[in-house]
Amino acid sequence: MVLQTMGLTKSYERRGERFLAADNIDLQVAADDFICVTGESGSGKSTLLNMLTGMIRADSGAILFDGEDLCKLGDDELAHLRNGKIGYIPQGNSLLQNFSVLDNVCLPWYLTRKDDIKNTARALLLKMGIADLERESPRNLSGGESRRVAIARSLIASPKILIADEPTGDLDPRNTDEVIRLFAEVHSQGVAVIIVTHERQVPSCANRHLMMVCGRLHAQ
Ligand SMILES: Nc1ncnc2c1ncn2[C@@H]1O[C@H](COP(=O)(O)OP(=O)(O)O)[C@@H](O)[C@H]1O
Ligand SMILES: [Mg+2]
Repeated sequence: MVLQTMGLTKSYERRGERFLAADNIDLQVAADDFICVTGESGSGKSTLLNMLTGMIRADSGAILFDGEDLCKLGDDELAHLRNGKIGYIPQGNSLLQNFSVLDNVCLPWYLTRKDDIKNTARALLLKMGIADLERESPRNLSGGESRRVAIARSLIASPKILIADEPTGDLDPRNTDEVIRLFAEVHSQGVAVIIVTHERQVPSCANRHLMMVCGRLHAQ
């Protein structure tokens, strides 16, 4: 098991009323899983992924990863773990516009380490088919190219798990297929994958389909 959650719960307040954005979620992710989570907008998908990646804290429950409960780590330890061991592709365009493509890919590495990682970043850009873009500003990239950079960035520290929030949400069908193919390739090299999509179609490379409904996670 690469990741496991138990009773993961997160509530928010709206117009004075609390509601559960994530409701008692038990999830087990095996090392060879490719999980696709679908669900309507507002069902809690991003809330779940943001807890798994330590971006937000759960109200209660546990997230076991690599022998540790993420919920019990301090902020620095959590950032270290996220930048070093979990590949994360947030929803939307998450690249830093004032940095080059290459520097964007290297950035998570340099948050915790000093040794030069540029050649690894270049190899990842090559694998994503965008080696020629390393000096570009993210401003000049198409949606598909930006997403490829975000995938390369998520892989910089050789994570055991890759977590992506609607990685194809804003892409045309051709780029959607290509990005899914890249996830399948990463998965075939031994990385567990969780992707979220609000589209109904589940990629054929996924071995598990889960659905989020009003904060609860259901097997399909
Ligand atoms: N920081 C927040 N404060 C208050 N409500 C939030 C916050 N983040 C998300 N929500 C609400 O929680 C619910 C789930 O949101 P989200 O996880 O983003 O859903 P999804 O990713 O499935 O579209 C939505 O109703 C959303 O408006
Ligand atoms: Mg979302």
